[in-house]
Amino acid sequence: MDTLLGEARKPEPETEPLADGAVLFRGGARAEAPALFAAVQAIAEAAPFRHMTTPGGFVMSIAITNCGDFGWTSDRRGYRYAPCDPGTGKPWPAMPPFFRALAVGAAARAGFPGFAPDSCLINRYEPGARLSLHQDKDEKRLAAPIVSVSLGLPARFLFGGLTRQEKPRRFRLENGDVVVWGGPARMAFHGVDPLAGGNHPLTGRCRVNLTFRQAS
Ligand code: SIN
Ligand code: FE2
Repeated sequence: MDTLLGEARKPEPETEPLADGAVLFRGGARAEAPALFAAVQAIAEAAPFRHMTTPGGFVMSIAITNCGDFGWTSDRRGYRYAPCDPGTGKPWPAMPPFFRALAVGAAARAGFPGFAPDSCLINRYEPGARLSLHQDKDEKRLAAPIVSVSLGLPARFLFGGLTRQEKPRRFRLENGDVVVWGGPARMAFHGVDPLAGGNHPLTGRCRVNLTFRQAS
């Protein structure tokens, strides 16, 4: 029978520990994905995605926008969180309550109760776009975790150790997957490999990633 049904495959676990303090919830936001993406499109009408410049003078391959009280931005003067969108001069769009509820729930499930995100960075990856290995260290409260939600095309997420030298492991992230890292993993180096091409029923030819942070 097995041969008729194809190879008996072990289903992938729904919760996969990535490191001490870091966990992947497969499909953790799959039900919310269409509503999340619709809200991202509305946010992007008010605060358009754009390719920011790094302090080193490189234009980032991912396009960025934000919602919440603070938004992550970058220019020649450095990286920082700001209450207004430098592109429009207006405050970032408000964080929809269901965004916050999702992030707070995922953080609690990962062992970080009391998460109070005031910032949601929204990254858009088109084929070839990548995010090189980095630490998230521009937030004031490093005790709070980071919650990441993937939408659209699959990506390979790199998750390493507390030093750049430690070789990162790679995890496939799909539409609706949620990753939480905090505590001993809060300063782990992480990144995203160049996005492969494709066409996703929800997002089309891109991947969108939301990261919730406690910035202030
Ligand atoms: C990030 O590190 O800010 C985003 C990671 C991702 O796109 O999965
Ligand atoms: Fe990051």
